[in-house]
Amino acid sequence: MCELNTKNLNNKDMKKINFKHGGNILTQAKKLNLLPSEIIDSSASLVPFEPPKPLLDALTSEINTLGFRYYPERDQNNLREIIGEFHQINPDNILPGNGASELITWAGYEASKFGVSCIPSPSFVDYERSLNCWNASFNNSELPTNWSKSFPQPFPIKPICDVLWITNPHNPTGQLWDKNSLEIILKNYKLVICDEAFLAITPNGEKESLIPLTKIYDNLLVIRSLTKLFNIAGLRLGYIIGSSEKLKNWNTKRDPWPLNSFAIRAGIEILSNRIFYKEWTKKIHEWVNTEKIWVFNKLSKISNLRIHYSSTNFFLIESQFSLSSNINYLETKGILIRECTSFKFLDEKWARISLQTRKNNKILCKEIQNSFKK
Ligand SMILES: Cc1ncc(COP(=O)(O)O)c(C=O)c1O
Repeated sequence: MCELNTKNLNNKDMKKINFKHGGNILTQAKKLNLLPSEIIDSSASLVPFEPPKPLLDALTSEINTLGFRYYPERDQNNLREIIGEFHQINPDNILPGNGASELITWAGYEASKFGVSCIPSPSFVDYERSLNCWNASFNNSELPTNWSKSFPQPFPIKPICDVLWITNPHNPTGQLWDKNSLEIILKNYKLVICDEAFLAITPNGEKESLIPLTKIYDNLLVIRSLTKLFNIAGLRLGYIIGSSEKLKNWNTKRDPWPLNSFAIRAGIEILSNRIFYKEWTKKIHEWVNTEKIWVFNKLSKISNLRIHYSSTNFFLIESQFSLSSNINYLETKGILIRECTSFKFLDEKWARISLQTRKNNKILCKEIQNSFKK
């Protein structure tokens, strides 16, 4: 569907275009001759626990009762209603998608109608992919590479453009932006796209969600993902909240069945059971709080390495020297971390790491330390 639009790019940028993602675990497993389960994948920021039992039970029952025979429900009415009840939003203002990624593609379509987009960077690489799909113009505004340890923080820049892309918490830095600081700048833009893919994982994150503001501001779109929180990246499940007119328009253009029946069933199951959802997120927030301090303390002992503060389950490390050989060494040990050369304004001295279980964090930290002794 998408062709690469090169009009925004100079030659140096063209060389940098690799749109690398973390989480290429299946490909990496083949390359390393390992099973995916033998790899510690710290390059994608999913929670490291088995998906919850109620979710797996619901999927098994879906296979046993309806199986694979029927087309999925086309307008996802049940799922939209459940998401609506969950967030107290009219279902007409909700569009579920095949992961947040599909909705980022459609947000790019919307952005292309309004003029120049600005991507505060370094940033999640998929926004550029989406804007290039629709031949949309964009620029990258540089975010400061130093920040304090208290979260939420005021959004630090006010770029001049038509469409602003916000990630909260920010990927790859892990900064949680203060909702009030975002509301103040909302009015300056024709369209604001706020990607909250990691907000539910982030302790005290939900307070900063812009979802309630979608009832006031017609120029605001908020994207959410369920794939990270429940470790179901293979199922693909996300949704977007915003103007019903915009979402209806996209719905007439997109593939007829973007979500499979199992993703729909998973979404209904997860979001209709409030008690389960609350218990699950509580467990995840406790894990983030505990492991973040533990890993931070371990890695801080490595000389020449700086660990940047984060509000969530991933964080950046910055070395005085290139981290390429460290990353290669870790790969030989079956450990993946996210190299950062594909992020604008970062280079090979940076890497992003996501938190694991304590058992795997021990291995991860030990091998990172070893990689510096090589
Ligand atoms: C900031 C951000 N938004 C969205 C996504 C995509 O989420 P999904 O798996 O729901 O497509 C990612 C995936 O890494 C991400 O980092």
